[in-house]
Order: sequence, then structure tokens, then C-alpha cells
Amino acid sequence: MTSADALLAELEPTAAQLLERHLATSKEWFPHELVPWSQGRDFEPGYKWSPEDGQLSDEVRSSLFVNLLTEDNLPYYFRTIERMFGADSAWGTWARRWTAEEGRHSIVIRDYLTVTRAIDPVQLERARMAQVECGAVPEPETPHDGFAYVALQELATRIAHHNTGKLLEDKAGYEVMKKVASDENRHYLFYRDLVTAALEVDPSGMVVAIERQVRTFEMPGTGILDFEAHAKAIARAGIYDFGIHHDQILVPVVLRHWSIEALEGLTPEAEQARAALVKRIERIGKAGRRFAARRDERLAAV
Ligand SMILES: [Fe+2]
Ligand SMILES: [Fe+2]
Repeated sequence: MTSADALLAELEPTAAQLLERHLATSKEWFPHELVPWSQGRDFEPGYKWSPEDGQLSDEVRSSLFVNLLTEDNLPYYFRTIERMFGADSAWGTWARRWTAEEGRHSIVIRDYLTVTRAIDPVQLERARMAQVECGAVPEPETPHDGFAYVALQELATRIAHHNTGKLLEDKAGYEVMKKVASDENRHYLFYRDLVTAALEVDPSGMVVAIERQVRTFEMPGTGILDFEAHAKAIARAGIYDFGIHHDQILVPVVLRHWSIEALEGLTPEAEQARAALVKRIERIGKAGRRFAARRDERLAAV
């Protein structure tokens, strides 16, 4: 396997190019222009929030809660990314730019939720404190693993934000989530193409890392109180589940875009990892179809 330092050095020009493309395709936007301020009013100190204050289902509220707390946990994501990629050259420039953009996401989502009273602001603030104080984030061990994880995760986040937006009844909320999702898409494209380049430099090392990351993949949100229950609610609402993970990420990105099955000259260890990866993707697809069928039955019974 190519060492971490050698891989980062070899891919630095690619990172610089992808950063340039990212900047060229990003359009500046402002959170304050998307928030429906006229819907807001003061909160009296000690105000007791109730679900009737907003108009969201529990599932959509769960999704916004998890998405926002994840964006709030930036200090720790930044730490991991800087540790993995380094603070210098295009890598450092990218990590800081990415952090600034993710910060914009938490600003716009929090302002939207506060103004529309969609979530209990006391519960949210306490959860933010707990989340950042515990400092838990996924910590891939090598840049190989890091590239694979963030590529999958940014696309997963784009899909989750977009699907959440579609379930919001007001146009302002939809526009907020659409805007955030379009940033996540550019983050995803940066990492997707970085993985493509890394597969050329070190195919065996990358296949082993991709297999490991698919095997252990979790949506960001570890460390959030009741994360499991929220993840179940998010799946129930069809915002993010096994079927989406299989059909919109694993098949189009891992199998098609990275053409994992067509790679040649792999080491025996990487061959084994590839076989396990392909099998796992099939199993996840089956689980996704079973899950969707059960959900349809439940809905039909209501
Ligand atoms: Fe984000
Ligand atoms: Fe992102």
C-alpha cells in the first residue's frame, strides 16, 4: 500500500485542480436571504415549546435535528480532516474552505428552525452543547479510508438534506435544504474525483479502504443523544435508508463510477476485499428491498 504521505504528495496537484473547480462552480450565497424572518417572534425566557408550535412530523424533525447537530460538530470534523490531509498546500486550503461552507449550513438551518419554531430550541441547544463537548466523529485511520468515507458521506448528506427539504411544507424550508444540498453535492464531487485519482495511484490500497468504509459506514451523527432512534425515524420517512444507500450511492458510485469490478492488477488482499465488497453491496440491496416492502405494507395498513 502506498504510504499516507506518498499518496497525499502524489495527489496534491489533483486536490489543487479539484479545489479550483469547486471554487469556480460555487456561487456565493447568504443564509439571511433564505430565512423567513417575518414568521418569527420573540421567545419569552422559560417559554415551553410544544410540537404544535411547528408543523413538522416527528420523522422530519428527527432528520433536521441530526443534520444540524452534525453541522454543529465542525470543530471535530475539521480536526480529523486536517490531521488526515495536513494544514499545508491545497489540502489545507480545501479543509478550511470546506469548514467555512459547512458553518454556513448550520447558520441557515438553525436560523430557519428557530424562526419557524420547528424544533424545541432548548432541547436543540442542550443537544448541541452535549454533542460538541463529547467530540465524537468518525475517525478514518488513513487518507485512503478518509477519501472513501467522505465521498460516501457527502453524497449521503446531500441526499438526506434534499429528501428532508422535499418533506417540508413551506417553500422557504425547501429552498434552505436545497441550497445546502447543492453545496454537499460539490463536496461530494471533490471527494468522488479524488478517490478516482487515488484508485489510479494505489488501486489495491484504495479497494481495501473502500471495502472497510462500506462495511462500517454510518451516517454522520455518532455521539448525538438517541441517534439510533433518530436514524430509525429518518429511515421510516424514506429520507435515508438501506435502499437509498444501495441504489443512489453504492451502485452508481462504488460499482459504476469507480468501476471497482474492472480494476486490474490487485494484490491478493485487495482481490479478497473486492469480492467481499461486491457481496456486501448485493446484501445491502436485498435488505433495502425488504425494508421498503415492509414500509409499504405498514403505510397500506394505515
Ligand atoms: Fe453541510
Ligand atoms: Fe459537506
